[in-house]
Amino acid sequence: MSDVNEPIIVVDNIHKSYLMGKDAVPALRGVSLDISPGEFVCLMGPSGSGKTTLLNIIGGLDEPSRGHIAIDGDNLVSLSEDKLALLRLNKIGFVFQNYNLLANFTALENVEAPMVLSRSYGRRERRKRAQELLDKVGLGDRSHHYPSELSGGQQQRVAIARALANDPPILIGDEMTGDLDSETGFAIMRLIKQLNEDGMTIVFVTHDPRMSKFAGTVVNLQDGKLLNTERQ
Ligand SMILES: Nc1ncnc2c1ncn2[C@@H]1O[C@H](COP(=O)(O)OP(=O)(O)OP(=O)(O)O)[C@@H](O)[C@H]1O
Ligand SMILES: [Mg+2]
Repeated sequence: MSDVNEPIIVVDNIHKSYLMGKDAVPALRGVSLDISPGEFVCLMGPSGSGKTTLLNIIGGLDEPSRGHIAIDGDNLVSLSEDKLALLRLNKIGFVFQNYNLLANFTALENVEAPMVLSRSYGRRERRKRAQELLDKVGLGDRSHHYPSELSGGQQQRVAIARALANDPPILIGDEMTGDLDSETGFAIMRLIKQLNEDGMTIVFVTHDPRMSKFAGTVVNLQDGKLLNTERQ
C-alpha cells in the first residue's frame, strides 16, 4: 500500500547510454525526478533530448546504465525479470502513439488481454469489466469491432481502456496524440485529465504545447538532462 506522502515514482540520478558499435551514445546524463501520487506530469524537450528513453525506464521497459528508479516503493533495478513483468502488468498502464492494438482481436478482446495475463479476474468478470471500460472511454457500442474498423481516435480510446484493465495507479504515454488531428487529440487529453482527476498518476511525453497545458507539471529535458520543471 502506497503512502500518500511518499513519491510514487523516484528517478535518482539516472544515466543511460546506448552502445552503437564501439561508441556509447549518451541519452540521459544524470536525471533525478520525484513524482507524487496523483501528479499529472508532461515531459517535453527537443527531438533526441531523451524523453522516450526516460519514459521507457520509468515504465520498466528499459534499464538505466546507472542510477536508481523506484515505482511505488519497488527498486526496479533489483527486481527479477518475473517481478518486473508483474509490476508492469499491475502498476502501469501504457499508451503509445501507434496504439499497438492486436489486429486480430476485437476492441473487447484487446481490453481483456491484460486481465488474461494478470489472472486477476474470472472469464465473465473480465468480459464485464472490459465492456465497462469501453463504456467509460465512450466506445461501448464498438466492442466487437476490430482495430481496422475503428478511427485513430477510437483505437486510442481502446488503448486507454486496455491500459486501465488491471486498475494500475500509473498511466504513461508517449506521443499519445501524435497521430491524431487536434480536435481528436484534445478529446483524448480530456479523457486522460479525467483519469487524473479520479486519482491516477499520469506521465506523458508530447511535442505539442497545446497538449502539455493539460498537465500540472511540465518537465523540460535538453541533451539528456533536466533543464527545468514548471508547475502550472
Ligand atoms: N535504441 C537506441 N540505440 C541507439 N541510440 C538510441 C536508441 N534510442 C535512442 N537513442 C538515442 O538516444 C537519444 C535520446 O533518444 P530518445 O528517443 O529518448 O529521444 P526523444 O526525446 O524521445 O526524441 P523524439 O522527440 O524524437 O521522440 C538520441 O540521441 C537517440 O539517437
Ligand atoms: Mg521520443
